[in-house]
Amino acid sequence: MNGILISLEGPDGAGKTTVLQEILPEIQKMKREVVPTREPGGVRVAEEIRQIILDPKNTEIDSKTELMLFAAARRLHMQEKMLPALRAGKVVIVDRFIDSSVAYQGYGRDLGVEVVDWLNYFATDGLKPDLTLYFDIDTDVALERIMKNRADEVNRLDLERAEMHRKVREGYLEIVAKEPERFVKIDASQSLEKVVADTLEVLKKRFVSEF
Ligand code: TYD
Repeated sequence: MNGILISLEGPDGAGKTTVLQEILPEIQKMKREVVPTREPGGVRVAEEIRQIILDPKNTEIDSKTELMLFAAARRLHMQEKMLPALRAGKVVIVDRFIDSSVAYQGYGRDLGVEVVDWLNYFATDGLKPDLTLYFDIDTDVALERIMKNRADEVNRLDLERAEMHRKVREGYLEIVAKEPERFVKIDASQSLEKVVADTLEVLKKRFVSEF
């Protein structure tokens, strides 16, 4: 594959989606074409699966069903959008990818890392990001932010207990420690300006010849 795959990860409330919007004008200056996308979603049917997963009324979706829906959405997204872009040598920057399933379903929902790793592998045929930016934030600070900023658009997964949020963060910290060469941890508790600046610095340093 000629392209570059960058994923953004972090607990809810870390602000990575906002950071992505802020850094886009700068990373669009890269020599290669940049394709921003997100999971679950990114392509039509995967966006439909996203609606099903996040709809607060779908309380009958259990953990295993949820895991498989994320995996199904991931495969569609990868086949239809990510792989063609990567084969064409583009930079794909994806808001959440395989590590979200490990952190949320593996740790948060207690399904275990092994089964989630396996299903991720099955869904992606082993595709891994070249770089993963992990936006780290203390769970209490994150929960405060979610309550303050997103009361109007709280989704089903946001409503889960604080306990789940804690497990997700612990999960992320373990994943990051396991693959230090793939991850760069960014302190997301700082001001948005500082988080954006840190993120751009990491990208420009890592892909120095691409800017
Ligand atoms: P979203 O509104 O996109 O959250 P954010 O803006 O914080 O990324 O909702 C995505 C939710 O889905 C989020 O709570 C994390 C969760 N998720 C999983 O649990 N497993 C996954 O594999 C993925 C991709 C997301």
